[in-house]
Amino acid sequence: MKLKFTLTSIVMITVLTSTLFVFADDEEHEEHESVATVGKTPGVASVDNEMYAKECSACHFAYQAGLLPKRSWEKLMTGLEDHFGENAELSIEMQAELTQYLAENAADNSLDKIPMKFMRGLSEAETPLRITEIPYMKREHREMSKQMVTENPDVKSLSYCDKCHTRAAVGSYSEREIKIPGFKNWDDD
Ligand code: HEC
Ligand code: HEC
Repeated sequence: MKLKFTLTSIVMITVLTSTLFVFADDEEHEEHESVATVGKTPGVASVDNEMYAKECSACHFAYQAGLLPKRSWEKLMTGLEDHFGENAELSIEMQAELTQYLAENAADNSLDKIPMKFMRGLSEAETPLRITEIPYMKREHREMSKQMVTENPDVKSLSYCDKCHTRAAVGSYSEREIKIPGFKNWDDD
């Protein structure tokens, strides 16, 4: 009886402390990472498919595959003829190749920092067609005013990540690299 109690306690304490360590580790990790990130490992793997970089950057920069789950890319790629009001249609062959590239590198197939954060808050029942609809994205951007985003002629909408995230093209979205056009540095206050 006594032995059983002790064992249970040991197990409980181990579980509790390892949980604490996981949390502590996560925070520490983030702090280090923001220092280490600049010029090194980006928050999300950068685009490494030439056809994608060319075909999907005519109207906005080529979003990294890790910014949406596989199911979202698959849905988006089947509706290119009516793509947010624009015609972005491709040949069947190109569409198939790009869908495969996006699916293989999608957020739910990635262990990078940003995709992991995106997936954590997204319910499996949801298939967002926009990166900007992902709960983590909404939360991170809610402090900005309309003047900074939709009413800002140099930004127009949150979809144009690279207008504010100066290193978005290489998959880096760290806070210290943000510059909202027409406003003082985000980091300065
Ligand atoms: C002819 C122009 C055009 C082309 C080509 C194009 N897009 Fe778009 N895309 C748009 C527009 C317009 C929006 C909506 C922007 C807005 O709401 O301000 C958009 C939005 C998106 C979004 C959602 C961004 C958000 O708000 O989170 C994704 C993802 C996307 N495009 C992926 C692609 C992919 C993948 C390709 C290549 C197959 C592609 N686009 C090619 C015009 C285009
Ligand atoms: C109008 C400027 C603007 C645009 C456009 C914008 N962002 Fe941001 N983003 C910000 C600001 C400001 C923050 C920091 C919020 C804060 O203080 O925490 C941020 C934070 C983030 C973060 C959190 C950074 C971290 O270290 O966790 C991510 C990820 C991110 N943005 C991705 C995106 C993506 C992807 C897009 C495009 C689909 C986008 N952003 C478009 C201004 C912008």
